[in-house]
Amino acid sequence: MDDDGLVYEGKAKSVFRTNVAGELRVVFRDDITAFNGVKKDTLAGKGEYNARVSAFFFEYLEKNGIPTHFIRMEDERTMIVRELTMIPLEVIARNVAAGSIVKKFPFTEGQRIEPPVIVTDYKSDEHGDPSINDDLIVALGFLSADGLQEVREMTLKINTLLKDFFAKAGIDLVDFKIEFGRSGDTICLGDEISMDSMRLWDQKTGESLDKDVYRQGKGDVLSAYRKVVDIILQTN
Ligand code: ATP
Ligand code: TYD
Repeated sequence: MDDDGLVYEGKAKSVFRTNVAGELRVVFRDDITAFNGVKKDTLAGKGEYNARVSAFFFEYLEKNGIPTHFIRMEDERTMIVRELTMIPLEVIARNVAAGSIVKKFPFTEGQRIEPPVIVTDYKSDEHGDPSINDDLIVALGFLSADGLQEVREMTLKINTLLKDFFAKAGIDLVDFKIEFGRSGDTICLGDEISMDSMRLWDQKTGESLDKDVYRQGKGDVLSAYRKVVDIILQTN
């Protein structure tokens, strides 16, 4: 593919214009990064795995009433999506304490968080992705009070749908990060839902099936990702 129409090259995906107004092409690359890009590698097949899992969950969530940007897959690693005006927030839902929340607050790793909590970061490399609260989100004009409520309700619903899906496969959905954007007046789920953006723990073995395998250098990243792909394939 030529690079004409490249709109944005992120850490793991490249976004291109298409010849259809309002549609973008998102290519899931094989790059994997952690610690804000300090650790970087390329793992052949990783892009395809994340694209497949993302596409599966976008369709699953759409069927369950969540508007998403997903239109169709163009090939194994390329997704055609509706162009959104992205809301610069990383919305994180947590069911079990892991990662940054354990470093910042007196949770113990693995502690259940019931009811689940939602935390938000301002997505800005320039500002170092700081955490942000509801008042700041409204004051900065990212969302109205009603929009904020809508994002919160959608996130809790997505959490329930994903958690129930994984529980049936013997996996705990520990946490995940999602991004939203606007298509006209509609707030839609954008970006991705993949092993890069979720924490998944095997209920029997405690094994991680997500990017923590890479972050912590604790095994074969691709085979962990592959296990999630296999669960999706068994469901289809
Ligand atoms: P991070 O890895 O922290 O998510 P990044 O910007 O490096 O950041 P990538 O996933 O590599 O992330 O790049 C994809 C970019 O495309 C992100 O900036 C994301 O917000 C944006 N994006 C995702 N879906 C859409 C969409 N439907 N319309 C417009 N932009 C989108
Ligand atoms: P978090 O514990 O806040 O950060 P870290 O992964 O640095 O410990 O992450 C919570 C979840 O959100 C986890 O599943 C990873 C995901 N996430 C992203 O996908 N991108 C991000 O930029 C952040 C901060 C988290």
